[in-house]
Amino acid sequence: MSGASRLVLGSARWALVARPDRTLLAATVAAALDTGITRFDTARAYSPPGRAGEGERLLGQALGSHMRAGRARIATKGGHWRRPDGSFAVDARPATLRSHVEASLSALGIERIDRYLLHWPDPAVPLAESVGALADLRAAGLVDEIGVCNVDVAQVEAAHAAGPVAVVQNRLAYLGPDDPVLARCVALGLEYEAYSSLGGPDGPGRMEELVRGEPRVTALAARLGATGVQLALAWLLAQGTAVVPVLGAGRPRSVRASAAAASLTLGGDDLALLDEVRPRPETATA
Ligand SMILES: NC(=O)c1ccc[n+]([C@@H]2O[C@H](COP(=O)([O-])OP(=O)(O)OC[C@H]3O[C@@H](n4cnc5c(N)ncnc54)[C@H](OP(=O)(O)O)[C@@H]3O)[C@@H](O)[C@H]2O)c1
Repeated sequence: MSGASRLVLGSARWALVARPDRTLLAATVAAALDTGITRFDTARAYSPPGRAGEGERLLGQALGSHMRAGRARIATKGGHWRRPDGSFAVDARPATLRSHVEASLSALGIERIDRYLLHWPDPAVPLAESVGALADLRAAGLVDEIGVCNVDVAQVEAAHAAGPVAVVQNRLAYLGPDDPVLARCVALGLEYEAYSSLGGPDGPGRMEELVRGEPRVTALAARLGATGVQLALAWLLAQGTAVVPVLGAGRPRSVRASAAAASLTLGGDDLALLDEVRPRPETATA
């Protein structure tokens, strides 16, 4: 994979807006496909209170015929959902995961999910049991690839031992802590999807401040004709071919700018500079 095909468009925030502009979401999805982004991320938990599956329905509708024509690959997640009172709950028992997969297939309007992830490990259920349930759903033909999210190194190893896990999705961004799970994924041959890869909703603003406040970064951005967000994304892509950034975007312009960042090439000195000035909390939050 190279260029924009290494990016995933995430849709977490779409379903959290009270009245999402469906025309804008369809244009955002169209911009993604246009620039070479063919992978999309959602979850059962991405829904307003009391409307389980809304994020999946929005994504399915925005993708429409592209999905049916096989031009888009969809990842969704279960074992985690939103209660009617707005709080989030975790339940990764095998029977719950099966019912979540069935509900996701229906919400998305498809017969097989390309990639299905356990959204959060459930402290009340051994991880091997949850992953084993996903492996059974894969064997039954309901999902193609399986993975886990929000895991530490020991959990990645447990998940890998329990089933044919293809991917880990954890939080990783230029504006955030390192994640030791990345090196473990590389060693085990797993893909590492980096979520909130632009640093979350305030990430773009913080990156522009960094560009304005550090003259060497100002010069780098000017030389490459790049914004702060684009530098952050190029840095993330340079952390290794196992890294696949999951980007949140609600506007075609954001998607196009991010896709363009996938073509930036950072030299060794550029990366060393960005590492030197990187503001980084001490501990991982995932
Ligand atoms: N597995 C998990 O537990 C988990 C947890 C959190 C998130 N995720 C996944 O990760 C995805 C992304 O995470 P996120 O939504 O937290 O945040 P993010 O991708 O770090 O940042 C999203 C923000 O960046 C802006 N943006 C996007 N591209 C831009 C560009 N090129 N230039 C300037 N601004 C740009 C967006 O603005 P606009 O909206 O205005 O375009 C939005 O405000 C989610 O949608 C979800 O799929 C997974």
